[in-house]
Parts: sequence; structure tokens; C-alpha cells
Amino acid sequence: MKVLVVGGGGREHAVIKKLKENPEITEIFALPGNGGIARDATCVPIGAKDIASIVSFAEDNAIDYAVVTPDDPLVLGCVDALEKIGVPCFGPRANAAIIEGSKVFAKELMKKYGIPTASYESFDRLDAALTYLESAPLPTVIKADGLALGKGVIIARTREEARDAVVEMMQNHKFGKSGEQVVIEEFLEGPEVSVLAFTDGKSIVPMVSSMDHKRAGDGDTGLNTGGMGTVAPNPYYTEAVAQRCMEEIFLPTIHAMNAEGRPFKGCLYFGLMVTKDGPKVIEYNCRFGDPETQVVLPLLESDLFTVMRAVTEERLSEVEVRFSGSSACCVILASKGYPEHYEKGYPLSVPEAIADRVYVAGAALKNGELFTNGGRVVGCTAVADTLPEAIDAAYDLASQVHFENSYCRRDIGQRALRAVSED
Ligand code: AMP
Ligand code: GLY
Repeated sequence: MKVLVVGGGGREHAVIKKLKENPEITEIFALPGNGGIARDATCVPIGAKDIASIVSFAEDNAIDYAVVTPDDPLVLGCVDALEKIGVPCFGPRANAAIIEGSKVFAKELMKKYGIPTASYESFDRLDAALTYLESAPLPTVIKADGLALGKGVIIARTREEARDAVVEMMQNHKFGKSGEQVVIEEFLEGPEVSVLAFTDGKSIVPMVSSMDHKRAGDGDTGLNTGGMGTVAPNPYYTEAVAQRCMEEIFLPTIHAMNAEGRPFKGCLYFGLMVTKDGPKVIEYNCRFGDPETQVVLPLLESDLFTVMRAVTEERLSEVEVRFSGSSACCVILASKGYPEHYEKGYPLSVPEAIADRVYVAGAALKNGELFTNGGRVVGCTAVADTLPEAIDAAYDLASQVHFENSYCRRDIGQRALRAVSED
């Protein structure tokens, strides 16, 4: 079978490595992939948002199955377009991807169906937003409605910061159309947990939980990034929390999407906060998380392609989705200066002996050599019996990958270890 994967980051590399375990798959195409992914798939220079070219490629190459992982093509209707030419897909249609594409939609859905989340107001007029902020409790959280590369959330501790944020979004169009509407919501406190779940719209199967490290600096300081590392499982996601999430969040979300005529099929990502009042939804994503996927999929013992096809064919309840009881840690090596200004184009060396545990996010191939080509460059993932061992092993892998101006956080997993020792 010929499989097409849309996207070109570390997440897609992790998905492709896992898909390769299925012997039925004869060829994998990555659109556009990247220099590191080229080791595991045939990369084709078609951008993930170029839906028309993706569809022509699928048609011309008799693609049997497509996996669409990034938010943009999902929200733009890539799955709808591929299905129209008869290509079965893993990923939600546009009318369900809106759960990530519009924060106003997601908040209204949760309010309507009683799914726990931060209380909020939404605004499409600047003056109304500013008036609301005059008396909103502080800190307050301002979110651009649409996709904003993970940068559309501002936690404002003062009224001035809050005002500046809405003016930037609504008047100065910092995030373009994405900021025409804003959500202003209650500031929640508690540990964060990421849960990715397979769902075919009928049943939902959560994967092993994980913990992202979004800030650029050690001790959760500095700017928000796409994610500097992850561990799985997340110790804050206890059996009791998992059960509440299933009853109060996961199943109600699937039912809500069905009731709205927007059945969700694919991977639904729950960004959760475990507050003193119980777990609440911080955000939904309509896709695998990055870099959560780089710790979750290495722990999946079942065959990914079998599970994905069961999702597409709405028979998820018939297949086994089994995770190992081990722990995983992924350390991201980034270009110094990320997420702001950084340089690219440096030679990148990944020893062959560890290449199977290195997910390449930002690299290009030139004359057969790898060069850095992004902010996040690689993710090094280790799996071990215990979390401390996984963390040590991931840092050991990271120490063997070299490029100029490389940067990583030194404390990936430490918060999770503290949680374990507080038990
Ligand atoms: P998001 O892009 O929605 O994942 O938000 C980025 C980060 O902002 C989250 O991972 C949280 O750490 C933080 N955040 C978002 N919403 C809230 C909230 N209501 N209260 C506290 N922190 C929040
Ligand atoms: N790691 C967070 C995300 O994928 O959005």
C-alpha cells in the first residue's frame, strides 16, 4: 500500500517511523517532509497547505491512504478534498477540525454541553473587549480565535497588558484574521496534562498521557514555544483523574460533536489542567500534538496503521490499542534564539547508531548532508522502565547530536519527577 503523510516536522517523523512497522505499507510519501524524514520516506516538495497539489499528487500516484497531521491543512479541508477523490484518510474533516480552528467555537461547544473549562466571554468588537477588561479579574487570559502558531494566547497579569493584547490582536491584526475575534477567559491553576485520543466518532480510546514543556527556558521561564520536550506518562494523570476525564470531558466531547453534526474522526488532543475543582479543558487540538507524539507513539505496542484504518472505517472498538508500561522522554534540540531569531544552515550530525530514536523537525538535505533548517531541529526520545532512566537516556542521545548554536532545556521531566516524589 502507498501511504501519504501530510506535514514535515518531528511529529510527522514519529508517525512515519511507526507506520513503517506495518509490512503492508510498501511506500510512504511525505509532503513536504524534511531532510531527516527523507531517511524514512520519499519526500515531495509540496507544502502542507497546498491542498490542490496534495490532491493531484494523491491521484497521480494512486495513493491508498492518507494521514493528515498538521492543523492548517485539516482546518482548510484537506481530508474532505482527499476523500472526494476516494482516498481514505486519517484526520478530521474541516467541519470537525473547527474544534481547534476556532476557539470561540470550542468554548461555545463546551458551554452548551457542560464540559468543564475556564469561564469566558468572546468578543468581535474592540470597544466591548476593552470595556470588559476594565473590571475582569486578574490575571486574565486573552486568546485569538483562530490558528496562530501556538502564539495566540496571552496571560495578562495587569490591565495594561490585557489591553495591549486585545489591541494587538483586534486593531493591529497581529495574527491576521485569527485575531478578529478574541476569547477572554478565567485564569486557571494546576498541572497541565496532554491526552491524545483515537476516536472514530463512536468510541474514544485515550493514549498514554504526556507532559509538554512549552516555555523556552529552564524552570518554565521565557517565551512560549512549540514545545521543548515531553515525558510520558504524566504522573498528574492518575487513575481517578483519568476516569473523571473520560466521564466529564472525553465522552461528552464526542457526543457534542456528533450532536452538532460534526463527527470527529482522527486524533483529538485534550490540553487539560488538573485544577482543585477537577480536570478542565484548556484547549482542543484536532491532531497529534508536537512533541507529545514523539513520546506517545514510541510507547504504542499495537500497530499504528491498523488503528488508523479502524478509525477511518469506524470500527475502532474492534481493535486493540495497547501501550507499554514503560516511560519515555523527548528532549528537543533547538537553534539558539528560538522561538524568536535564530540562524539556520549549520551542518547537523546524527550518528547512525541512534538515528532510529531521533525525530527530525527542522533539517534540509544538501548533497546528501543534513543542515539545520528550523527553530526546533531534532527531538531525541528514549524509552526506559522508569522515568528517571528515560530522562537520562534522552539527554545521553541529545549529547550525541551536534550542530552549531544548539540549545536544549536541561530540566525536561524534572517537574514530573517532583510530582512522583510528592506522592
Ligand atoms: P494554548 O495555546 O491554548 O495551549 O495555551 C498556551 C498555554 O497557555 C497553555 O499551555 C497554558 O499553559 C496557558 N493557558 C491557556 N489558557 C489558560 C487558562 N485559562 N489559565 C491558565 N493558563 C492558561
Ligand atoms: N505541544 C502542543 C501542541 O502540539 O499544540
